[in-house]
Amino acid sequence: MKSLIQQAIVFVCFTTLAYGLQNGLARTPPMGWLSWERFRCNTDCDNHPDSCISENLYMAMADRLVEDGYRDAGYEYVNIDDCWSNKTRDENGNLNPDSKRFPSGMKALADYMHKKGLKLGIYGDFGSKTCAGYPGSLNYLEKDANRFAEWGIDMFKMDGCNVDISLMKKGYPEMGQYLNATGRPILFSCSWPDYERGKGIPIDYQSVASHCNIWRNFVDIQDSWDSVLKIIDYQANITDQWGPVVGPGNFSDPDMLIIGDYSLSVSQSQAQMAMWAILAAPLLMSNDLRTISPEFREILLNKEVIQVNQDPLGIMGKRVLQVSKTTEAWMRPTDGRWAVCFFNRGTTIPESFSVSLKKLGLPVDQELGFDALDLFSGEYIGFMDSYAIFNSTVNPSGVRLFLFGPAETK
Ligand code: GLA
Repeated sequence: MKSLIQQAIVFVCFTTLAYGLQNGLARTPPMGWLSWERFRCNTDCDNHPDSCISENLYMAMADRLVEDGYRDAGYEYVNIDDCWSNKTRDENGNLNPDSKRFPSGMKALADYMHKKGLKLGIYGDFGSKTCAGYPGSLNYLEKDANRFAEWGIDMFKMDGCNVDISLMKKGYPEMGQYLNATGRPILFSCSWPDYERGKGIPIDYQSVASHCNIWRNFVDIQDSWDSVLKIIDYQANITDQWGPVVGPGNFSDPDMLIIGDYSLSVSQSQAQMAMWAILAAPLLMSNDLRTISPEFREILLNKEVIQVNQDPLGIMGKRVLQVSKTTEAWMRPTDGRWAVCFFNRGTTIPESFSVSLKKLGLPVDQELGFDALDLFSGEYIGFMDSYAIFNSTVNPSGVRLFLFGPAETK
């Protein structure tokens, strides 16, 4: 006969299995740095010692995160993406980092991050191989979860190349359970719904949210403004489906921030930052923090915009108005305030918005009226009553991001 304690343990394990990932992580969208978009799968350290996928790269980014103020602004994860491991598992079936590029080993790299007040993320794949052809976790889910925990890993992104996609509905929750069972809090990032979307398989939004902390739902970002627009458009059309399951612990990931890379202008970078804040998206930069120019750094470190992104209610904002083909407005309710983003996607001239606060989705029963702060320029807009018409001009391929609050004075 089982003791009461044993029965209780069985019950706890069972409910964890049944109700998914309850690791207490990602209460607000995770912030950090991720190598993929900027550094890809460059494994040639002989010719590219400073930009190949190696421990040096991650340590260099960690140093910049700490010294240049990113960590203190909230960017805490340093995430390894594809191409870190040996091409095959060892004789015990274990994954190992490439010893030439990660000579100190993963545990040492995780220690390095932890000592600096940072966290280490790693990448794997649900299939037989990763998207770049490195060993995947198919048939090794539990083994890999344990290995990551032993190393001291804090986030795991599980991709979905090289596998029968219909297995994901079962396989991703299974991996979540193995991560839970390690006892180490490991934030789980799932690519599962993106693969189902690609195949036209119906997505079980509730299940994704209960088994993943964050999830990719659309194609990879590339270093181009077109790519950013395509992602924003996709997000605009899916907030009704994903919005209800987004909240503390669970966020949709529209992919990395490419601010400070080769393609985006300053206004376009503000637009990406603003839209990721409105969407309650993870803020995972993929750029070279050693050489980034100050104007991009300033955007990434904008405290007020980060505060909108990190709002504790964790509500995913949405597009509330399409004024014309090129002008639209988005709104995200935050704790006691409302973030409004006017977006001009045109490429010709500044566009003027003239919109009632009601149309933006602000509560018109707000007795005190509103005031607002332009979060990029710092300009303060004084008292407006609830029925006011708000006027704003937005530069081509740019945004104005305002935070409306109950007016302090009339
Ligand atoms: C997929 C993912 C990317 C990246 C690459 C690595 O394309 O969506 O984010 O991880 O694989 O190969």
